[in-house]
Amino acid sequence: MLYSKSWRRPRRLLSLSCLSLTSQAQIQFRILGHLMEWSKQVVLITGASAGIGRGLALELARRGAAVGLLARRRELLEETAAEITGAGGRALVLAADVTQPDQVRAAVGELRRRFGPIDLLVANAGISINTFVPDLCEKKIAELINVNVIGVVNSVSAVLSEMVAQGRGHLVVNSSLAAYRGLPKSAAYCASKAAVSSFCEALRIDLKDTGVDVTIIHPGFVKTQMIRSIARTPYVMEIDQAVRKIVHAIEKRKKGYAFPWQLAAVARACKLLPIPMYDWFAARNSFRG
Ligand SMILES: NC(=O)c1ccc[n+]([C@@H]2O[C@H](COP(=O)([O-])OP(=O)(O)OC[C@H]3O[C@@H](n4cnc5c(N)ncnc54)[C@H](OP(=O)(O)O)[C@@H]3O)[C@@H](O)[C@H]2O)c1
Repeated sequence: MLYSKSWRRPRRLLSLSCLSLTSQAQIQFRILGHLMEWSKQVVLITGASAGIGRGLALELARRGAAVGLLARRRELLEETAAEITGAGGRALVLAADVTQPDQVRAAVGELRRRFGPIDLLVANAGISINTFVPDLCEKKIAELINVNVIGVVNSVSAVLSEMVAQGRGHLVVNSSLAAYRGLPKSAAYCASKAAVSSFCEALRIDLKDTGVDVTIIHPGFVKTQMIRSIARTPYVMEIDQAVRKIVHAIEKRKKGYAFPWQLAAVARACKLLPIPMYDWFAARNSFRG
């Protein structure tokens, strides 16, 4: 038809503008949705005095969450809290040791009194050591297991009953790609992260239908104090980059999230290798030199 094109153009323009209005509204709604959501969240972050935990605290507070900053070094927590409140955010310093269940419970109580029930726990506090043979330094290993595993147990335990009673909550644990298989000179660290991943995986199944979600994060290398003595750090990420990825996984309430994808792919492939092939490969690719 002769008039069809001229008729169609305004209609197409109209439908295009409707479409762009709709998508703009959707985008605005999504952005507002996130802002509104975070502004209602009370978050407890362990290991918030440095590295990834500090980065997460700054980012979640910037998005509007009220954040409880838990670690042992009070002065560093106070600096982070001052940075947050200076920018108009909400933060509470909670100087505590995750290996001490009473201290963690007291910190949770303080945070609840100040900002209300805890919606999100990020169990992030952790330490790393080299494990050499034959001198295993069992005291150091016990300390590491105490922080990396029992510390997570204490943190989860301090918030879980209330989350289940409320029928809502989110547990996020910062494990590691080192959880996937044993790595050279990393026996203690790998064991601790494998334990934490399995612990939280089992909890995730047990917590089905309670309204409490569990997210297990498996990062590769992130530029923090923790990796300063590690000889090779392929695909190492800046703290900000890692924080953005973790926040994305939290918002999506992912069950598990491993990054960066290149190292995660290698770690997954290693899980499938037969033992002799894995031993050969791992011995030639030691990160700890
Ligand atoms: N960086 C990486 O490449 C990497 C990769 C995979 C996984 N991760 C995991 O990510 C988490 C954070 O590591 P990061 O790299 O950010 O390390 P980091 O910079 O060394 O920070 C570790 C944090 O844990 C806290 N912490 C240690 N022991 C504690 C205790 N007993 N009680 C309370 N807090 C304690 C420290 O605070 P205080 O000393 O003030 O107590 C600090 O805030 C760890 O679980 C780590 O295993 C890191």
